[in-house]
Amino acid sequence: MHLPSSSAFGKDFLWGVAVAAAQNEGAWNIDGRGSSIWDVFARRQGKIKGGAKPTENCDFYHRYKDDLMLVKALGFNVFRFSFSWSRIFPEGTGKVNKEGVAFYHRMIDECLQLGLTPFATLYHWDLPQALQKEGGWASVHMQKWFARYATFCAEEFGDKVKHWIILNEPMGFTSLGYMLGKHAPGKTGLEHFFPAIHNAVIAQAEGGRIVRKHVPKAIIGTSFSCSEVMPYSNKREDVEAAKRLDILLNRLFIEPTLGRNYPNEDFPLIDKLHLKTKAWRYTERMQFDFDFIGLQNYFSVTVKHNALIPYIQASEVTAKTRKVPHTSLGWEINPDSFYRLLKRYWNYGGVKSIIVSENGACFKDTLKNGSVHDQERIDYFKQYLAAVYKAKQEGVKINGYLAWTLMDNFEWSEGFNARFGLIHVDFNTQLRTIKDSGYWWRDFLL
Ligand code: BGC
Repeated sequence: MHLPSSSAFGKDFLWGVAVAAAQNEGAWNIDGRGSSIWDVFARRQGKIKGGAKPTENCDFYHRYKDDLMLVKALGFNVFRFSFSWSRIFPEGTGKVNKEGVAFYHRMIDECLQLGLTPFATLYHWDLPQALQKEGGWASVHMQKWFARYATFCAEEFGDKVKHWIILNEPMGFTSLGYMLGKHAPGKTGLEHFFPAIHNAVIAQAEGGRIVRKHVPKAIIGTSFSCSEVMPYSNKREDVEAAKRLDILLNRLFIEPTLGRNYPNEDFPLIDKLHLKTKAWRYTERMQFDFDFIGLQNYFSVTVKHNALIPYIQASEVTAKTRKVPHTSLGWEINPDSFYRLLKRYWNYGGVKSIIVSENGACFKDTLKNGSVHDQERIDYFKQYLAAVYKAKQEGVKINGYLAWTLMDNFEWSEGFNARFGLIHVDFNTQLRTIKDSGYWWRDFLL
């Protein structure tokens, strides 16, 4: 695949970087911010590699002016960030924290002054702990809490922010946080997972309706993680295992959003289980006509049948085992599979446009003599951008690409050692060093 110059993507193409409040802001216990589930989860022993805590992170809360200048200097025209719900509503609902709101106004104003389009995510995984105490995403009250929060943000920031993402990767936070216990709030089991899915599907569509109502000329999307799932062999049992995982990773959230029911037909077990828990009741409220869907891709997966794995009966055959290219987290690098996914989502019908709202890679970077030579990351971006270009050329309406991520940050349960940034951060001194990949982006865009 061939990567032309950035101008070949069109003059209105959105080029951005993405960050998230819990991963970048720091300032976790000042100016009235309440606790989030990640503050609490990180204190539990053994949950985060190296015992890291998301306390200071990159201190974006205080350094946002310098950091936004870097976004600009690297040539981007979009800055995607998320609101920290517990900075705005320390108790999740009820009283508003004015200092938190003022911070977002200052930061958004700075974006506008620099000519960066602010692109806001309402929910990027940091639920207020006060709401988790009441059940969090597994509680039916979630829809009411989320509607209140979304309404406030839309009314408060809607005259300045026109681009909105309602949820960041609902499959990510419901599966890792409410089924596998690997992310905050650390819950496990179907009794948490199924209701969390259903509440997220509805909250996502309701969030869309709320922003539509309060923000004139809003461009509204929501983001889905996606990973092509391939069977390890042509054996029927492997092919069926891949189909089951594909439902969970790629279809579960988008299909109800597009006005269909949950994809039950290829996964009878799921159907049986959800009927038993009565967690999923079809309702038209699950559907919303988003202006774009945000696709986020980090790896493809190859699986084989494994009867020992509950429900899904599939296990991954890793990229390392298959000796195919992968990042330092072992995630398979496969731009062809990303190209196929872009076409597949477009071909659903009903998708108005696509923005690649996150894509990026983690490598073992070393800072030496003031430089980070991350050629692997440059190669990664070149290949993935070429895949985007090819799909676009073939008619897929892709309006933007947001790289993950501006700078090394708190990578959830991986702590501070999984570095995805275009800018290196020394977490002891907060010194920023632009990596070779950051300079590559500047040359590509400017
Ligand atoms: C999330 C980011 C995360 C990235 C890399 C995405 O799923 O939205 O918050 O840092 O993956 O793991």
